[in-house]
Amino acid sequence: MKTGSVKKYKAYAAMDFSSRTWPEKTITKAPMWCSVDLRDGNQALVQPMNLKQKIELFELLVDVGFKDIEVGFPSASEVEFEFCRTLIEDNLIPADVSIQVLTPARESLIKKTFKAVEGAKKVVMHLYNSTSTLQRKNVFKMNREEITALGVEGARVIKEEAERFSATDFRFEYSPESFTGTELDFAMHICEAVMDVWEPTTERPVILNLPATVELATPNIYADQIEWFCTNLKNRDFAIVSLHAHNDRGCAVAATELALMAGADRVEGTLFGNGERTGNVDLVTLGLNMFTQGVDPNLDLHDINRLITVSQQVTDIPVHVRHPYAGELVYTAFSGSHQDAISKGMESCKNSNDGLWAVPYLPIDPTDVGRTYESIIRINSQSGKGGVAYLMDIEFGLKMPKRMHPEFGRIIQQVTNQAGRELKAVELWNAFESTYLLNNRPYGLESFNVVKRHIDNDEKASFAEIEAVIIDGQNKKSIKGRGNGPLDAFCSALKQDVSGDFSLNRYHEHALSVSSSSKAVAYIEIIKEDGSVKWGVGIDTDIIVASIKAVLSSLNSTT
Ligand code: KIV
Ligand code: ZN
Repeated sequence: MKTGSVKKYKAYAAMDFSSRTWPEKTITKAPMWCSVDLRDGNQALVQPMNLKQKIELFELLVDVGFKDIEVGFPSASEVEFEFCRTLIEDNLIPADVSIQVLTPARESLIKKTFKAVEGAKKVVMHLYNSTSTLQRKNVFKMNREEITALGVEGARVIKEEAERFSATDFRFEYSPESFTGTELDFAMHICEAVMDVWEPTTERPVILNLPATVELATPNIYADQIEWFCTNLKNRDFAIVSLHAHNDRGCAVAATELALMAGADRVEGTLFGNGERTGNVDLVTLGLNMFTQGVDPNLDLHDINRLITVSQQVTDIPVHVRHPYAGELVYTAFSGSHQDAISKGMESCKNSNDGLWAVPYLPIDPTDVGRTYESIIRINSQSGKGGVAYLMDIEFGLKMPKRMHPEFGRIIQQVTNQAGRELKAVELWNAFESTYLLNNRPYGLESFNVVKRHIDNDEKASFAEIEAVIIDGQNKKSIKGRGNGPLDAFCSALKQDVSGDFSLNRYHEHALSVSSSSKAVAYIEIIKEDGSVKWGVGIDTDIIVASIKAVLSSLNSTT
């Protein structure tokens, strides 16, 4: 900021409202929703949507479940007028959906707006005029009475026009634009004056939309204003109190949530928060915030990728990679401790039978919005052993024994440090393969044969005899051995004729279920003569061969 320029600004005046009750409330049900993507959202685009894009977005909004969709400002632009006509004439509006149209309080413009919606079954006629203190003084140079008269006259014309278009079921909405920049008592006064004209009832309430046209203060202040308004409004039952928060301070979602706690009934906003300047409140975030609190938002957000694709196509604005619930990276953990906790949390979630989602660092199950578990953990230089092991399991079906995780985790850390970027799954596999499966120096296997096998009820009487040809550097060596089983026999022969002493410390095996169901994998930890501990891995269609490959892999290990 420029030095000293802070003096240009003054704090938003606090209101005296100690009887507020909203801090004790929670959101227990979804509000009525209204998408303003096609009006507020479209109005704010560098390149406004064309007809085809508007229809595509309208159809998406219908599929998501919006019952009120503001489709434009038909008196302000021919394209918006034409869009209304197309929706109506091409029968694109489902019977349970109301289109909403915005109009200023000017007779000629109101009349044009009615023409735009002629023939529609259900319409919300949305009247607005700015009531803000600042605009009254500096823009309109009008006092409170004059501004009220403007709103009232607009309301009167709307009522009169609606009677002429009797085939349409009209609902009326009034917005004192810049509500948060208006004295509260005046905002309420003008809303009541408009209500007096429209004569709403409990059965046919008006919508009073109270916009934070510019977000000017902290979210608690918006909540106070909404609770005050809801408490003091004459005939509260005759009104649906609607929120319309812009995001200038980055708090539109919070402001809307607190204002819902404060008693509002309806929310206007856009997908991913597109809209004037910093945007409107993001309805996807709001809806999924409710969802993760166990409250059904009554919006179908299960295919978030479709929402992103359509929204990006029609607005030409990307959804940020860290956008709540939607961003490309939000189901990804890079840090080792997070990866570890996520993989353990996933496992325990799978095994628990309470049906509740409880995974550290992930407030939502990615599959609930059409994302996949696979994308949860990605590997970079901060990743830990747990995440690496989790991905090896998820991607390749390799369930490495826990004691092996640190060793392979270290190897991956070196690879990421060298690469200086995030690794792809195939690069994890390459590192695993070259470390454990292709490391055939100095010892390789040319052939292996179990020549005799006796299995006895008395384990001590069981034995196996093997023959094998081992490549030792440049030489080949034929070896023979006997032991209590083929692996034991192989190890004895190896120790005696090839490698010198070592002991088998740990052994794990499992079928490989992901890539090739007929293969098995063996993991072996040996302790060498010099006391060093080495892991080796073998994969083969035969589990005995897999285990002897694992022994050679551990003897060859340079980790
Ligand atoms: O932000 C706003 O005040 C508006 C009104 C026209 C409702 O979009
Ligand atoms: Zn707006």
